Amino acid sequence: MTQSLDRPVTPPRPDLLDAPPDRPARRGWFGRYYTIPLAVAAAAYLLYQLPPYLTFDPANTHIPMQFPLHYAVLAGHVMTGAITLVTLCLQLWPWLRRNHPAVHRWSGRLYVFAGALPSAALALVMFPFSFPAGSVAVLMSGVMWAVTAVVGWVRARQGRYAEHRRWMLYSFAIVWGQTVWGLVIGLTLFRLPFAIDITYISESARWVGWVGNLVLVHWWLERTARRGQGPVVTGRRS
Ligand code: HEM
Repeated sequence: MTQSLDRPVTPPRPDLLDAPPDRPARRGWFGRYYTIPLAVAAAAYLLYQLPPYLTFDPANTHIPMQFPLHYAVLAGHVMTGAITLVTLCLQLWPWLRRNHPAVHRWSGRLYVFAGALPSAALALVMFPFSFPAGSVAVLMSGVMWAVTAVVGWVRARQGRYAEHRRWMLYSFAIVWGQTVWGLVIGLTLFRLPFAIDITYISESARWVGWVGNLVLVHWWLERTARRGQGPVVTGRRS
């Protein structure tokens, strides 16, 4: 990845995050339309998970309430988590980044400050009461989710857009893996024709999704950077 840190910076041009102007992005069908399956999966996840928390009735939750404010903390975690899944789809939409950079900036701030940070903080409050199998994965993913989102935001503020993109993609990979893939893995293992110990199901659902996603995203970033398809970095803002 080439960076010219001594040059004065041009203001952020979101199109530069996608492909260098002299080397148009080589995008196949998936490269152009991946936001559609992403949005459909996010909507399906939210339709499945959100309703019990819209009634504000603790009796509707799937998990046992263990301390006085447990329901409030859980509902807050779920609502702010929903903000991250919606803004994530907006952030990854190339058309929106190119044509409405202001919307990209604002939905990015929402992702970090109204979504990832409060949702991760509330997840950490619930962590000691969480089902023990796989709880280390919950702790690690929560911390890494918040850290990657903040570093991604700081890099954007510094005008270091290639690094901004990299950290934000890590953040998206973690949250997507912990939620959507975690749920898919858990439900699939539960529905197999033979019984698997709940400990293994919980460990798998809480580790495999986000770690697998993170490894895949890192591999893809390195691969595209080596091919010279990585983003152009215009330098620092100050
Ligand atoms: C890395 C990110 C996340 C972590 C570490 C995390 C962690 C947690 C924790 C500790 C709980 C309490 C129940 C348990 O012990 O498993 C929980 C529940 C829940 N979380 Fe998250 N969460 C994350 C992201 C999200 C996001 C983005 C959403 C989107 C809406 C979400 C939706 C939920 C829901 C719906 C529940 C209740 C589970 C149920 O009713 O079955 N979480 N999460």
